Formats: sequence, C-alpha cells, structure tokens
Amino acid sequence: YPPERIRNFSIIAHVDHGKSTLADRLLELTGTIKRGHGQPQYLDKLQVERERGITVKAQTATMFHNSNEPQPFLLNLIDTPGHVDFSYEVSRSLAACQGALLVVDAAQGVQAQTVANFYLAFESNLTIIPVINKIDQPTADPDRIKDQLKSMFDLEPSDCLLTSAKTGQGLEHVLPAVIERIPPPPGEGSGLLRMLLLDSYYDEYKGVICHVAVVDGMLRKGDKISAAATGQTYDVLDVGFMHPELTQTGVLLTGQVGYVVTGMRSTKEARIGDTLFHAKTIVKPLPGFKAARHMVFSGLFPADGSDFEALNHAIERLTCNDASVSVTKESSTALGLGFRCGFLGLLHMDVFHQRLEQVTFHLSLSHLVAVLWYVLLDLLTMLEVQNPAALPSNSKQRVTASWEPTVLATIIIPSEYVGPVITLCSERRGQQLEYSFIDRRAFMKYRLPLREIVVDFYNELKSITSGYASFDYEDSEYQQADLVKLDILLNGQAVDAMATIVHSLKAQRMGRELVDKLKKFIDRQMFEIIIQAAIGSKVVARETISAMRKNVLAKCYGGDITRKRKLLEKQKEGKKRMKRVGSVDIPQEAFHQLLKVS
Ligand code: GTP
Repeated sequence: YPPERIRNFSIIAHVDHGKSTLADRLLELTGTIKRGHGQPQYLDKLQVERERGITVKAQTATMFHNSNEPQPFLLNLIDTPGHVDFSYEVSRSLAACQGALLVVDAAQGVQAQTVANFYLAFESNLTIIPVINKIDQPTADPDRIKDQLKSMFDLEPSDCLLTSAKTGQGLEHVLPAVIERIPPPPGEGSGLLRMLLLDSYYDEYKGVICHVAVVDGMLRKGDKISAAATGQTYDVLDVGFMHPELTQTGVLLTGQVGYVVTGMRSTKEARIGDTLFHAKTIVKPLPGFKAARHMVFSGLFPADGSDFEALNHAIERLTCNDASVSVTKESSTALGLGFRCGFLGLLHMDVFHQRLEQVTFHLSLSHLVAVLWYVLLDLLTMLEVQNPAALPSNSKQRVTASWEPTVLATIIIPSEYVGPVITLCSERRGQQLEYSFIDRRAFMKYRLPLREIVVDFYNELKSITSGYASFDYEDSEYQQADLVKLDILLNGQAVDAMATIVHSLKAQRMGRELVDKLKKFIDRQMFEIIIQAAIGSKVVARETISAMRKNVLAKCYGGDITRKRKLLEKQKEGKKRMKRVGSVDIPQEAFHQLLKVS
C-alpha cells in the first residue's frame, strides 16, 4: 500500500453524540465487522465503558474501502478516549492522524467536550470534517447546528455531513469525504523506521500488545527495535493489522497503523507517545512524548485488615492493563495498611474505583482523595505532596509558598441557569475567564482549583441546572495559593488519615464540619474526649465528648455468671475492631463512614 492510498483519521465527539455507533456503522459498511454480529459498539471494549458510555481506552481498527478504483483504500480509524482526562492520549492518537470526524448531535449541538476536542484536533493541524449526527430525531435541527459550528469554529455549513448512525441515512458520504478531504500520511518510505506508540494492553496468551503508527520506514517480523523513552530493546515477534481482530501481516509500512508484539513483560514498559525505532539506528524521537503525570491520588484502605492481600491482588490485576495508574503501599495509624494510587485525573480515578468495586465487591473499602500540590519550605526545599499527612504539621511556620493544580473548565448551560452556576464556581474559588451567549446558551470558561472539583462538583453542577449543564476541563498550570494543612486532633493527637489541605479561607468551615461529623461517630468513653481541628498550633474548631462509663453489666441483676461473661466477651470483640489514636479508641468503622467519598 503506497501512502497515497492510506488515510488515518479519528472520530471525536461529546459523550453520547454517537461516536461509537458511527464507528460501528463504518466498520460494517466496509465489511470489517458483520452487521448485527459480535458486540455492538466494537470500539468500546471495557465493560465499564459500556456501562458509563464513555470510551476510556483508545481502540483502533483498519478497514478496506472498495471504491471503484482497482486498488482499495486502506483506512485506519484511530479511536481516541472520549474524555480530556486522557487528553495526552487523545493528543498522541491525533498525532497519528491527518484528519478527524467531529461528530455533533443534531439536537443538542455543540457541548463542552466538542469544544475541547475541536481545539485538540485543530492544534494538531488536522483536517476536520463536521458530521451532524442523529438527524432522525424529531428535535433535530441541523441548520441551527451548522450555524453554531460556523460561529464557534468557523466550519463551513456546506462542509457539514448529515447522518443518522441509527437509520443509516447519509452514511454513504462519510468515507468518500474522508478519502477526498483528508491528506494521506506524510513520511519517508525509504527512511529509517520511526513508529509512534499509541496504546498497549496485556493479552494472556500473547503478552503485551502495542498499537503503533509507522511514521517513517518499515517494520518486519524478526526486526530488533528499541524504545526511546525506556532505552529497552526487543525482538518483534508478531506484527499486523487490527481488522479489527489481530491479523498477521508480518510487515507494516510507512503510514500504516497496526499492532506489534514484543517480549515486553508489562504494559508499564510501553509508554504511550514513545518512539520505537530499529535498534542500533540513530533517529530523532517523534515530538510530544510526556511521561504520565499523576494529578489525583486516592488512599485505599480495607475496613478489615485481613482483606489487605485480596485488595493487593485486585489492584495488581487492574494495573496490569492500565499502566498509567501508580501504586504505592501505605500505612496509616487510623486506617491500617492500604495503598496510595495516582491517577491522570478525576474520571480516570472514578473508572478505576468502579472497576475495583466490581472485583472487590465483597470488601469494604474507604477512599481518601487528594490532589498533587507543591510547597516551598524555608525558601529552599520544594516538596511534592501527594498525601496531606506526609507534610509535617508544625511546618506552617516554615511554608514560604504553596502551589496547587488548576483546570480550565468549559461550562455550557441554558441561559436561565447562569446565576446559580456563577455562585457555585465562585464558592469553589473559580476565576471567570470568558463568558458569552450563543443561541440562548451561555458558554463560560473558568479556571478552577482541581482540589475544588474533586469532590462533588459535577453532581452539584448537574443538580443546580436540572441536568442541563455540560462540563469539561483540561489540566492547566499550577497557581500559587494560600494553602494550609488542617489537622484533626483527638485529645491532642493528630489523626493521620484525616489531615487535609485546604485554602486558608475555607479552613475554619471545613474544620467545623469535620469536627461535628466526628463527634457523631465516636461513642462516649470512660474519659473526656476533645476533638479539635487545627492549623499548626492554632485551633479553629473544637468539640468535647463527655466521659461516661459504658457499663455493659448495668442491665444484669443478680448472679447470672454466664450471661455476664457473654456480655463481657462481646465487649472484648468490639474492642478488637477499635483503632487507638493516642489514648482514644475509635471504631474503625467511624473512620470509614467519615471518609467515604460519595
Ligand atoms: P462515547 O462512547 O461515550 O464517546 O459515546 P458515543 O459518542 O460513542 O455515543 P454512542 O455511539 O454510544 O451513542 C449514544 C446513544 O445515541 C446510543 O444510545 C445510540 O444508540 C444513540 N445514537 C447514536 N447514533 C444515533 C443516531 O443517528 N440517531 C439516534 N436517534 N440515536 C443515535
């Protein structure tokens, strides 16, 4: 296949606008998959993706388009994750394409992810083909959507394709447009091999399977290749197309997209965006490689310490296919042994938690969520803080400055909800950057601290807008902020698991909330318990639980020894599940209840 007869493209869309359905129809039209056979939505492989309707892992497929010409076209559909938590993966997938189908729902119009995805494709210099989908719906209004696309992205109304991936209407124009409008892949057929690593997954029988795009040169089975980021060298054991199942070809040429099996032992060796080249050759790595950056961390602790091994096993199984999660073991005085996992963003974390729940549904776990922030101590030491408990409490006096991650959020809402949304964003310390009205809808851009959207932002946004808000965000820079560590103390002793990092303006309110909650969960004991929230040595909230002797024998009269013994034993059992913080015994359940993230 000469590159002139190859087209590499992807489909980008807001969630639910029909990306997967359209991809399936294109695979059917080209005979790559049979209609009604196999799984619907071929490109969505993970169960959890199907449940949530979000494509998380990029999947890719090759199709042959039998046009009237003697030689068919080779079309590589490179699927991209549907959310910008994975914007790095999206940008790597787009780097292997020359064009993209921008799918927009004919009734809903441009939504937050349409905007984010458009700019990713635009910045990658891709030819964008606007596809207005779901034109079969009674509420479809393609002309209105054409106007939106023109005014927001300067896309010409005459360039828009109108389709229904459901009824099949208009689909016959899609692939011809791909062939006519999208340029063939550039690249040096006779040059030294350079391949872009797009994705990888672990297969029980074959080991690690890498998806690659050959940018220059040619790859054959039996070649020796090296990876630029890791410096490792491998033998190419198998190579071919995803059609969509693995189909051996023994060779991949310039501009082609396919799979490679090497002797990699774990997907951790396959860094997305890395450049693969022939061993012993000297090539310039392809631009844009970045190591995965973990922005959100979650502490995972089993309520029952004996479940630690089961949790360990489950986490190992899941990370085997998602190398972008980092895992370290952690021990907490209050919660016992557990793990700290790092994620690329919130959605990535949610998806991981959900998959973990599926395999550990019998375990009771608690999650603690934190974001990555930096503090400068004594003008000299820069600390990267993943876990608030790790920062020394007395450091307040020594913290010279601190920085927190922010996101750039796009919010699109019907205009009547503007007031409550502005209030919500300013409560969350948001800074408004842009504000405009198009077609009775408000488009807003905000810079928000990641910390402020970690818990419950999306749910609240949905509820104050009766579900109409569309929200998306991308990572942005760190900003300096007046952050403090808020400790929770029981009789003067800090509870490690409960330390949090908050903005100084919110510290008092947060301290009050935590102290009040904790008071509800701790039973009275034989001595007084003082619960405090403190920043360094300054107490910002305080409650007292007065002493009470919990006499389990109080209800027993006379000399019924066996009954007394039974009650005492029951009390002893209960004590075993207590966690001792300083001199205070706390039922572990209290922490788990308190720290549950809804
Ligand atoms: P992600 O995988 O989250 O990116 O979503 P998606 O964009 O792939 O959407 P998907 O293809 O899963 O479609 C979402 C819903 O819209 C499904 O229930 C589809 O059956 C439906 N749908 C897709 N295309 C059409 C269409 O042309 N007309 C109508 N009426 N429904 C459609």
